Amino acid sequence: MKNFTTKQQIRQHLQPLRKDGATIGFVPTMGALHQGHLSLIARAKQECDMVVCSIFVNPTQFNDPKDLEKYPRPIEADIQKLEQAGCDVLFNPDVNEIYAGNEQWHLDIGELERLLEGAFRPGHYQGVTQVVFKLFDIVEPDKAFFGQKDFQQVMVINCMIELLKLPVTLVMCPIERESDGLAMSSRNVHLTVDDRRHALILSRTLQQVKDGINTTDIATLKQQAEAAISSEPGVELDYFELVDGNTLHAANQNTAYVVALVAAKVGNTRLIDNMIVR
Ligand code: PAF
Repeated sequence: MKNFTTKQQIRQHLQPLRKDGATIGFVPTMGALHQGHLSLIARAKQECDMVVCSIFVNPTQFNDPKDLEKYPRPIEADIQKLEQAGCDVLFNPDVNEIYAGNEQWHLDIGELERLLEGAFRPGHYQGVTQVVFKLFDIVEPDKAFFGQKDFQQVMVINCMIELLKLPVTLVMCPIERESDGLAMSSRNVHLTVDDRRHALILSRTLQQVKDGINTTDIATLKQQAEAAISSEPGVELDYFELVDGNTLHAANQNTAYVVALVAAKVGNTRLIDNMIVR
Protein backbone atom coordinates (compact mmCIF):
# COMPACT_ATOMS: atom_id res chain seq x y z
CA MET A 1 0.00 0.00 0.00
CA LYS A 2 1.21 3.48 -0.87
CA ASN A 3 1.07 5.96 1.98
CA PHE A 4 0.92 9.68 1.16
CA THR A 5 0.77 12.68 3.44
CA THR A 6 0.64 15.54 0.90
CA LYS A 7 -1.98 16.49 -1.66
CA GLN A 8 0.65 16.84 -4.34
CA GLN A 9 2.01 13.31 -3.82
CA ILE A 10 -1.37 11.60 -3.92
CA ARG A 11 -2.57 13.64 -6.90
CA GLN A 12 0.61 12.76 -8.81
CA HIS A 13 0.12 9.10 -8.01
CA LEU A 14 -3.56 8.94 -8.96
CA GLN A 15 -3.53 11.08 -12.10
CA PRO A 16 -1.88 8.60 -14.51
CA LEU A 17 -3.93 5.71 -13.12
CA ARG A 18 -7.14 7.64 -13.70
CA LYS A 19 -5.93 8.52 -17.21
CA ASP A 20 -5.45 4.81 -17.89
CA GLY A 21 -9.11 4.30 -17.06
CA ALA A 22 -8.87 2.97 -13.49
CA THR A 23 -11.94 3.72 -11.37
CA ILE A 24 -11.24 5.00 -7.88
CA GLY A 25 -13.21 4.01 -4.80
CA PHE A 26 -12.73 6.27 -1.80
CA VAL A 27 -13.27 5.50 1.89
CA PRO A 28 -12.82 8.61 4.04
CA THR A 29 -12.20 7.82 7.73
CA MET A 30 -10.87 9.33 10.92
CA GLY A 31 -8.88 6.18 11.66
CA ALA A 32 -9.23 3.86 14.68
CA LEU A 33 -10.39 1.39 12.09
CA HIS A 34 -12.76 -1.46 12.92
CA GLN A 35 -14.73 -4.02 10.94
CA GLY A 36 -17.20 -1.31 9.90
CA HIS A 37 -14.48 0.58 8.04
CA LEU A 38 -13.02 -2.63 6.64
CA SER A 39 -16.42 -3.57 5.20
CA LEU A 40 -16.37 -0.24 3.34
CA ILE A 41 -12.93 -1.07 1.95
CA ALA A 42 -14.17 -4.52 0.88
CA ARG A 43 -17.20 -3.02 -0.88
CA ALA A 44 -15.00 -0.40 -2.58
CA LYS A 45 -12.70 -3.18 -3.79
CA GLN A 46 -15.67 -5.02 -5.27
CA GLU A 47 -16.95 -1.98 -7.12
CA CYS A 48 -13.78 -0.11 -8.18
CA ASP A 49 -10.37 -0.83 -9.71
CA MET A 50 -8.49 0.76 -6.84
CA VAL A 51 -9.23 1.85 -3.31
CA VAL A 52 -8.06 4.99 -1.55
CA CYS A 53 -8.62 5.38 2.18
CA SER A 54 -8.01 8.60 4.06
CA ILE A 55 -7.25 8.83 7.75
CA PHE A 56 -7.70 12.37 8.98
CA VAL A 57 -9.10 13.37 12.36
CA ASN A 58 -10.88 16.47 11.16
CA PRO A 59 -10.76 19.19 13.83
CA THR A 60 -13.56 21.30 12.30
CA GLN A 61 -16.23 18.66 12.92
CA PHE A 62 -15.59 18.41 16.67
CA ASN A 63 -17.60 20.83 18.71
CA ASP A 64 -16.10 19.51 21.94
CA PRO A 65 -12.30 20.06 22.17
CA LYS A 66 -12.04 17.22 24.74
CA ASP A 67 -13.68 14.81 22.29
CA LEU A 68 -11.11 15.83 19.65
CA GLU A 69 -8.24 15.43 22.09
CA LYS A 70 -9.25 11.96 23.23
CA TYR A 71 -10.21 10.67 19.77
CA PRO A 72 -8.20 7.41 19.32
CA ARG A 73 -5.31 7.57 16.83
CA PRO A 74 -3.73 4.07 16.54
CA ILE A 75 -2.07 4.80 13.19
CA GLU A 76 0.32 1.80 13.12
CA ALA A 77 -2.49 -0.69 13.77
CA ASP A 78 -4.65 1.11 11.19
CA ILE A 79 -1.96 0.83 8.52
CA GLN A 80 -1.67 -2.89 9.20
CA LYS A 81 -5.44 -3.38 8.91
CA LEU A 82 -5.53 -1.47 5.63
CA GLU A 83 -2.64 -3.54 4.22
CA GLN A 84 -4.48 -6.73 5.17
CA ALA A 85 -7.72 -5.45 3.66
CA GLY A 86 -5.96 -4.84 0.35
CA CYS A 87 -6.29 -1.05 0.33
CA ASP A 88 -4.15 0.45 -2.45
CA VAL A 89 -3.50 3.97 -1.21
CA LEU A 90 -3.62 5.65 2.19
CA PHE A 91 -3.87 9.43 2.46
CA ASN A 92 -2.86 10.48 5.95
CA PRO A 93 -2.30 14.25 5.91
CA ASP A 94 -1.47 16.69 8.70
CA VAL A 95 -4.01 19.34 9.70
CA ASN A 96 -1.88 22.02 7.97
CA GLU A 97 -2.02 20.10 4.71
CA ILE A 98 -5.82 20.34 4.68
CA TYR A 99 -6.53 23.69 6.35
CA ALA A 100 -4.64 26.87 5.57
CA GLY A 101 -6.00 28.80 8.52
CA ASN A 102 -9.23 29.33 10.35
CA GLU A 103 -11.61 28.51 7.49
CA GLN A 104 -15.07 29.92 7.84
CA TRP A 105 -16.76 29.01 4.54
CA HIS A 106 -20.15 27.54 4.95
CA LEU A 107 -22.17 25.41 2.56
CA ASP A 108 -25.88 25.98 3.10
CA ILE A 109 -27.40 22.51 3.24
CA GLY A 110 -30.54 23.82 4.91
CA GLU A 111 -32.31 22.14 7.80
CA LEU A 112 -30.36 18.89 7.42
CA GLU A 113 -27.49 20.39 9.38
CA ARG A 114 -29.76 21.65 12.17
CA LEU A 115 -31.92 18.57 12.82
CA LEU A 116 -31.10 15.68 15.19
CA GLU A 117 -27.28 15.35 15.35
CA GLY A 118 -27.01 18.88 13.99
CA ALA A 119 -29.00 20.21 16.94
CA PHE A 120 -26.86 18.36 19.48
CA ARG A 121 -23.55 19.07 17.73
CA PRO A 122 -23.83 22.58 16.25
CA GLY A 123 -21.41 23.07 13.37
CA HIS A 124 -20.59 19.37 13.14
CA TYR A 125 -21.96 18.79 9.65
CA GLN A 126 -20.39 22.01 8.41
CA GLY A 127 -17.03 20.57 9.44
CA VAL A 128 -17.92 17.30 7.72
CA THR A 129 -18.91 18.98 4.45
CA GLN A 130 -15.75 21.13 4.52
CA VAL A 131 -13.42 18.19 4.87
CA VAL A 132 -15.27 15.79 2.57
CA PHE A 133 -15.40 18.47 -0.12
CA LYS A 134 -11.64 18.95 0.16
CA LEU A 135 -10.96 15.20 0.19
CA PHE A 136 -13.16 14.66 -2.88
CA ASP A 137 -11.25 17.46 -4.61
CA ILE A 138 -7.91 15.77 -3.85
CA VAL A 139 -8.86 12.15 -4.55
CA GLU A 140 -11.46 12.74 -7.32
CA PRO A 141 -13.14 9.40 -6.65
CA ASP A 142 -15.68 7.76 -8.92
CA LYS A 143 -17.47 6.33 -5.89
CA ALA A 144 -17.28 7.20 -2.20
CA PHE A 145 -18.30 4.71 0.49
CA PHE A 146 -19.92 5.81 3.74
CA GLY A 147 -21.39 3.79 6.59
CA GLN A 148 -25.10 3.89 7.40
CA LYS A 149 -24.05 4.24 11.05
CA ASP A 150 -24.09 8.01 10.61
CA PHE A 151 -27.27 8.04 8.54
CA GLN A 152 -27.61 11.83 8.69
CA GLN A 153 -24.03 12.23 7.47
CA VAL A 154 -24.90 10.19 4.38
CA MET A 155 -27.83 12.53 3.73
CA VAL A 156 -25.64 15.59 4.26
CA ILE A 157 -22.99 14.36 1.81
CA ASN A 158 -25.67 13.42 -0.70
CA CYS A 159 -27.09 16.91 -0.40
CA MET A 160 -23.63 18.45 -0.95
CA ILE A 161 -23.06 16.25 -4.02
CA GLU A 162 -26.38 17.34 -5.49
CA LEU A 163 -25.99 21.03 -4.65
CA LEU A 164 -22.46 21.28 -6.09
CA LYS A 165 -23.09 18.70 -8.83
CA LEU A 166 -19.98 16.78 -7.79
CA PRO A 167 -19.05 13.93 -10.17
CA VAL A 168 -19.04 11.20 -7.52
CA THR A 169 -21.49 8.45 -6.60
CA LEU A 170 -22.14 7.90 -2.92
CA VAL A 171 -22.60 4.32 -1.72
CA MET A 172 -24.17 3.76 1.70
CA CYS A 173 -23.02 0.52 3.35
CA PRO A 174 -24.83 -1.35 6.16
CA ILE A 175 -23.90 -0.98 9.83
CA GLU A 176 -21.52 -3.63 11.13
CA ARG A 177 -22.46 -4.93 14.58
CA GLU A 178 -20.73 -6.92 17.30
CA SER A 179 -22.30 -10.36 17.86
CA ASP A 180 -24.42 -8.92 20.71
CA GLY A 181 -25.78 -6.13 18.50
CA LEU A 182 -23.60 -3.15 19.51
CA ALA A 183 -22.95 -1.00 16.46
CA MET A 184 -19.22 -0.85 15.72
CA SER A 185 -17.71 2.55 16.41
CA SER A 186 -14.25 3.96 17.02
CA ARG A 187 -15.66 5.42 20.23
CA ASN A 188 -16.52 1.97 21.67
CA VAL A 189 -12.95 1.71 23.01
CA HIS A 190 -13.92 4.34 25.60
CA LEU A 191 -16.72 2.17 27.04
CA THR A 192 -16.07 0.52 30.40
CA VAL A 193 -17.25 -3.06 30.92
CA ASP A 194 -20.45 -1.73 32.55
CA ASP A 195 -20.99 0.90 29.82
CA ARG A 196 -20.55 -1.79 27.20
CA ARG A 197 -23.37 -3.83 28.77
CA HIS A 198 -25.69 -0.83 29.19
CA ALA A 199 -25.01 0.32 25.62
CA LEU A 200 -26.81 -2.76 24.30
CA ILE A 201 -30.14 -1.08 25.14
CA LEU A 202 -29.70 1.04 22.01
CA SER A 203 -29.55 -1.74 19.42
CA ARG A 204 -32.03 -3.86 21.36
CA THR A 205 -34.57 -1.02 21.37
CA LEU A 206 -34.04 -0.31 17.67
CA GLN A 207 -34.72 -3.98 16.93
CA GLN A 208 -37.89 -3.92 19.07
CA VAL A 209 -39.13 -0.90 17.16
CA LYS A 210 -38.44 -2.69 13.89
CA ASP A 211 -40.33 -5.74 15.13
CA GLY A 212 -43.30 -3.60 16.15
CA ILE A 213 -43.53 -1.16 13.24
CA ASN A 214 -46.43 -2.87 11.50
CA THR A 215 -48.49 -3.62 14.60
CA THR A 216 -47.96 -0.63 16.93
CA ASP A 217 -48.47 3.05 16.13
CA ILE A 218 -45.42 5.25 15.77
CA ALA A 219 -46.12 7.53 18.75
CA THR A 220 -46.39 4.52 21.06
CA LEU A 221 -43.24 2.94 19.65
CA LYS A 222 -41.33 6.18 20.22
CA GLN A 223 -42.66 6.52 23.78
CA GLN A 224 -41.80 2.91 24.63
CA ALA A 225 -38.32 3.28 23.14
CA GLU A 226 -37.62 6.50 25.06
CA ALA A 227 -38.83 4.91 28.29
CA ALA A 228 -36.72 1.76 27.80
CA ILE A 229 -33.53 3.70 27.08
CA SER A 230 -34.06 6.30 29.79
CA SER A 231 -34.56 3.62 32.42
CA GLU A 232 -31.27 1.87 31.56
CA PRO A 233 -28.66 2.73 34.23
CA GLY A 234 -25.76 4.89 33.06
CA VAL A 235 -27.52 5.85 29.82
CA GLU A 236 -28.62 9.41 29.11
CA LEU A 237 -30.86 9.70 26.05
CA ASP A 238 -30.35 12.64 23.66
CA TYR A 239 -33.05 11.58 21.21
CA PHE A 240 -34.92 8.62 19.79
CA GLU A 241 -36.77 9.51 16.60
CA LEU A 242 -38.67 7.68 13.91
CA VAL A 243 -38.21 9.67 10.73
CA ASP A 244 -38.85 9.62 7.03
CA GLY A 245 -35.49 8.43 5.68
CA ASN A 246 -35.74 10.86 2.76
CA THR A 247 -36.29 14.04 4.79
CA LEU A 248 -35.52 13.33 8.47
CA HIS A 249 -38.99 14.67 9.28
CA ALA A 250 -41.08 12.76 11.82
CA ALA A 251 -42.58 9.63 10.27
CA ASN A 252 -46.26 8.76 10.43
CA GLN A 253 -48.23 5.58 9.81
CA ASN A 254 -48.16 6.23 6.03
CA THR A 255 -44.43 6.87 5.69
CA ALA A 256 -42.95 4.25 3.37
CA TYR A 257 -39.26 4.61 4.32
CA VAL A 258 -38.91 4.80 8.10
CA VAL A 259 -35.60 5.01 9.93
CA ALA A 260 -35.28 4.92 13.72
CA LEU A 261 -32.37 7.01 14.96
CA VAL A 262 -30.95 7.17 18.46
CA ALA A 263 -28.22 9.11 20.25
CA ALA A 264 -27.32 8.67 23.90
CA LYS A 265 -24.49 9.17 26.33
CA VAL A 266 -23.37 5.88 27.82
CA GLY A 267 -21.09 6.68 30.74
CA ASN A 268 -18.89 9.42 29.28
CA THR A 269 -19.20 8.26 25.68
CA ARG A 270 -21.79 9.56 23.25
CA LEU A 271 -23.04 6.85 20.88
CA ILE A 272 -25.33 6.95 17.86
CA ASP A 273 -27.12 4.10 16.16
CA ASN A 274 -30.00 3.61 13.74
CA MET A 275 -32.02 1.00 11.91
CA ILE A 276 -34.12 1.08 8.76
CA VAL A 277 -37.37 -0.20 10.26
CA ARG A 278 -39.59 0.02 7.16
O1 PAF B 1 -17.53 9.48 9.31
C1 PAF B 1 -16.39 9.91 9.53
O2 PAF B 1 -15.50 9.19 10.00
C2 PAF B 1 -16.09 11.36 9.25
O3 PAF B 1 -17.18 12.16 9.55
C3 PAF B 1 -15.57 11.62 7.84
C4 PAF B 1 -16.62 11.28 6.81
C5 PAF B 1 -14.33 10.80 7.59
C6 PAF B 1 -15.22 13.10 7.67
O4 PAF B 1 -14.23 13.49 8.56
